[in-house]
Amino acid sequence: MNAEGVCSAGFVHISSSLLSGNLLNLSRDLECLTEAGVGSFHIDVMDGHFVPNFAFGIEAIKQIATASKLPVSVHLMIDNPENFIDVVCVCKIESLIIHGEEKDDISPLLGRIQEQGVKAGLAINPESEVFDIARYLPLVDLVLIMGVHPGFGGQALIPSTIEKIPQIRAIRPDVPIGVDGGVNDKTAALLNREKPDILIAGSYLLNGSKPQSVEVLREKLKALCPAE
Ligand code: DX5
Ligand code: ZN
Repeated sequence: MNAEGVCSAGFVHISSSLLSGNLLNLSRDLECLTEAGVGSFHIDVMDGHFVPNFAFGIEAIKQIATASKLPVSVHLMIDNPENFIDVVCVCKIESLIIHGEEKDDISPLLGRIQEQGVKAGLAINPESEVFDIARYLPLVDLVLIMGVHPGFGGQALIPSTIEKIPQIRAIRPDVPIGVDGGVNDKTAALLNREKPDILIAGSYLLNGSKPQSVEVLREKLKALCPAE
């Protein structure tokens, strides 16, 4: 694992979702994960409509992005993302990911994110086919394949979602492709078979009230890397 959280075998950058972090002591989780060698942080935003759960608001994004020494990406799982794009983009984040399943055409939103100097990411739910969102692929800077139904941490990986990696790669070989959800030491081998560029891991790395030591986190990160 190098300083950017990339495994020594090459291709995988490990990003930590903070959804399962210790909310009363998140700065400790940020510090330990950074020291352990994670490459970036992933903040999930949920509105109780687009997904049946709530998570992280604007103030939390601002504070985490300011405190983090690593790049931060924000994953919006909300209705009407157009209402929040501008306010999130000024929060010192590296990328902003929106869903291809939004009701309206998100093409203008992807452009609006990029105009503000932020990378525009596209997330795809397990039930969406690559064909369903193909029109957005020429417009994006990264793609996030949801390995679980969005809304909750700790769910089991849906293995068929991984098949979308080569399908997307065939259309956009130049953009990083990540898998979000269900990433852990048991699923790492299967995931790495299709050579994703980014693995986003939440509950496997962090466990709410239980603080994780740097040593334990380091071992966990290693277990996500492909065998050399
Ligand atoms: C799910 C979120 C994920 C989630 C992953 O809706 O987008 O980022 O935190 O959690 P785990 O790694 O526990 O599946
Ligand atoms: Zn996410």
